[in-house]
Amino acid sequence: MSKAALGFFDSGVGGTSVWKEVIDLLPYENTIYLADSKNAPYGIKSPDEIIALSIKNTEFLISKGCKLIAIPCNTATTNAIDYLRSKYSIPLIGIEPAIKPAALQSDTKKIGILATKGTLSSQLFKTTQEKFSQDIDTIEVVGTGIVELIEAGKTNTVEMKTLLRRIVEPFMISGIDYLVLGCSHYPYIKHLLETLLPKNVRIIDSGAAVARQLLVTLQQSKLLNEDGKLGHHQLYSNANCTTLKEIVGVVENMTIEHLDF
Ligand code: DGL
Repeated sequence: MSKAALGFFDSGVGGTSVWKEVIDLLPYENTIYLADSKNAPYGIKSPDEIIALSIKNTEFLISKGCKLIAIPCNTATTNAIDYLRSKYSIPLIGIEPAIKPAALQSDTKKIGILATKGTLSSQLFKTTQEKFSQDIDTIEVVGTGIVELIEAGKTNTVEMKTLLRRIVEPFMISGIDYLVLGCSHYPYIKHLLETLLPKNVRIIDSGAAVARQLLVTLQQSKLLNEDGKLGHHQLYSNANCTTLKEIVGVVENMTIEHLDF
């Protein structure tokens, strides 16, 4: 079983920001990544729709024989992981906005959170926020339109910069010193956000934390692949594969394929 693949699903190409952290930390693991780009963005869908899509993605990865499923999608995790855990016995690893480290390290006691509407309005997000940001002001902004542009291959464009300039305004006037990226697509615009925000603002995401958590889970459940051979990576998209290929770049032992699902 330890040679079976780690499964990943996201609403699209964004979760590859987390997947990259995982394959760097766990180079011997085989992986299967499912980009449900046809249905992106998830962030504007209802919890029921997000749960239904998450079930479909989970069953696909189980049918491929995965030993564990990671959900590098904040919107799917915060809306669907409790339901998925009640329905499937396969280990599931989710992702949530990194509110805790930002709240602990903030000097100004003001942190920004940029995420989708689906994440910010979820019960799991509210619970995490109440737990970790009691003496902190959180400035929450919905990143409307960002995922659509990334999925369309328009990450480094004037259109994106114009959109982001408007999106960061509430962060600029509130004096935050930490910005939490609460959507796995957003690490791909971190460099643009850095040029727009004051130099003292630190921008953090949860990718590395998810990779560490995966390692611990694999060790504890004795599922770590220790055969010492570089892993194979199979990526699927149910839309045009061009954006996925561009965003992932060159990775050894990787194939990217279109799949109807
Ligand atoms: N990348 C996902 C997330 O982390 C979802 C973005 C979307 O589809 O709206 O929230």
